[in-house]
Amino acid sequence: MPLEIRWLGHACWSVRNDKHWLIIDPFLSDSPTAPVKPADVSPDFLLVSHGHGDHVGDTAAIAKRTGATVISNYEICTWFSKQGVQKTVGGNLGGWQHHAFGSVQLTIAFHSSQLPDGADGGNPSGFLIRIDGRSLYFACDTALFSDMQLIGAKGLDLAVLPIGDLFTMGIDDGVDAVKFLKPKHAIPSHFGTWPPIEQDPQKWATRVKAETSTAPVVLKPGETWMVP
Ligand code: NI
Ligand code: MN
Repeated sequence: MPLEIRWLGHACWSVRNDKHWLIIDPFLSDSPTAPVKPADVSPDFLLVSHGHGDHVGDTAAIAKRTGATVISNYEICTWFSKQGVQKTVGGNLGGWQHHAFGSVQLTIAFHSSQLPDGADGGNPSGFLIRIDGRSLYFACDTALFSDMQLIGAKGLDLAVLPIGDLFTMGIDDGVDAVKFLKPKHAIPSHFGTWPPIEQDPQKWATRVKAETSTAPVVLKPGETWMVP
């Protein structure tokens, strides 16, 4: 069963197989690099890592149109419920959720999480997703932290890591994250959207290739990669 990863620009990722479609941090209509509009996507699950506008994005509009289930922390799910989103599952750090596609754990992330209207967005998270027998880790917005070793300890097919710097890890810490996680493949994220987070992802990829046994995969917005 093919499992497709597609970069929808910035920190927005599509994970899709023949039965399910997950979109992580659906920031599309206001993203200068998004290859699609919110109306172009019909996911059945929307995962929101934290409360910032470049991650919350078009979640409410997409969920209301498609009936997708929103997966996030308790505070953010409560905020979406108040906006008329019907299906939400609010968890918290360390907790697993079991859904039709597989399972997802909200993993720790070192960042902040205020919602666009100033509401409390709880704690930011990353996502560890088990789908089709694979383990996919989306670090989302975070600094480097040594407990990434624990996240990687059971084996990862893919790690998606921010390298934009300023708001998250940059290239150097993004290479150290690969060393902690030891995934089979790693893809860079959260760069190139605006000038303050412009980066050359090949600098990261060259170091990952030279210093680790992980295979780096560099995508452009809109490109897809099939998980082997
Ligand atoms: Ni953020
Ligand atoms: Mn962000």
